[in-house]
Amino acid sequence: MDRSTIFLKACQQKPTKYTPVWIMRQAGRYMKEYRAIRGKVPFLAMCKTPELAAEVTLQPVEKLGIDAAIIFADILLPLEPMGINLEFAEGEGPVIHNPIENENDIDQLRTIKPEEDLPFVLEAIKKVRREIEGKVPLIGFSGSPFTLASYMIEGGHSRNFIKTKRLMYNNPPAWHLLMEKISQVVVSYLNAQINAGVQAIQLFDSWVGCLSPHDYEEYVLPHSRSIFKQVKKGIPAIHFAADSSSLLELLRQAGGDVIGVDWRIDIGTAWRRLEYKVGVQGNLDPAALFAPVPVIRNKVKKVLQSAANRSGHIFNLGHGILPQTPVENVIALVEAVHELSQR
Ligand code: CP3
Repeated sequence: MDRSTIFLKACQQKPTKYTPVWIMRQAGRYMKEYRAIRGKVPFLAMCKTPELAAEVTLQPVEKLGIDAAIIFADILLPLEPMGINLEFAEGEGPVIHNPIENENDIDQLRTIKPEEDLPFVLEAIKKVRREIEGKVPLIGFSGSPFTLASYMIEGGHSRNFIKTKRLMYNNPPAWHLLMEKISQVVVSYLNAQINAGVQAIQLFDSWVGCLSPHDYEEYVLPHSRSIFKQVKKGIPAIHFAADSSSLLELLRQAGGDVIGVDWRIDIGTAWRRLEYKVGVQGNLDPAALFAPVPVIRNKVKKVLQSAANRSGHIFNLGHGILPQTPVENVIALVEAVHELSQR
């Protein structure tokens, strides 16, 4: 089977000769080729230079033999043109210097025109498409309104999301206004990526697992659903949330052709709860890549067995790859998926 179509076929739950695999955060610090560039250029500058973004997007395609590329960017990029002052502090992760506190701050947020405000992402997409035509498909992505709102409000990563939940519970109209504004940005950003040539999209709701199912339903689901409704049809949409076994049915209600599943649940159980109506993506523990290769292969086999050869499984980690991961284990993982899933 042609490596250029297998990932897209699996997203449509069509039969494939083997299970396709890609890895969240596959372009990154665990690769020396990435570190060589990153050693010379700050992270945000890398994202804003299409030549470099395209180059690091392609690195794992060559080196790992994965079945899809994901455009090198960051979920926080659209925040800058909205009026958020964003910095990636060395060793600290993202820091926002003007976090949102009240309605007035929300009113001040701008919506964006991706072609004018984030042209570098769209250019990088076009460049990558020219270079990988016929090899593997390219995935575009955006953060979800909840995850982006949590960064805007907390000012960075958070443990308990108190400020976010405080706004949500104390001022629901302001919360929903914020979510609507971000959703508009996400829709136009994803549609611009589709116009530029991405062949699938993924919505990252990385931190939504901190919510109860009721709160998800009330404060998040309508907004995520409106995004999936408004995004251009015709290419697969993947809906990923970490720590989300309690939310699976609701994630499916919100939308997506494929639901991303983390490692805290058996992927077969997750798929049954999704009634096999959507594809599933996942779900090896990223820390499993620190095990010896025979143990990794065994864990791959377990995931494949849980997915039981059904059409519509895309192999991935349950969350992003960790920076310290040995690259030879990642190569072994990809080989194991391809070999052990041959049909
Ligand atoms: O998957 C890919 O390879 C595409 C590129 C990509 C990056 N970030 C590059 C990146 C993607 C899809 C993201 C998404 C992202 N960014 C998420 C959601 C992903 C998830 O795992 O749920 C989040 C929460 C962010 C915000 C963000 N960006 C954080 C918290 C950090 C710092 C954490 C860290 O690992 O240092 C980043 C920086 C970042 N984004 C790096 C990369 C390769 C590391 C930057 C560096 O080189 O120093």
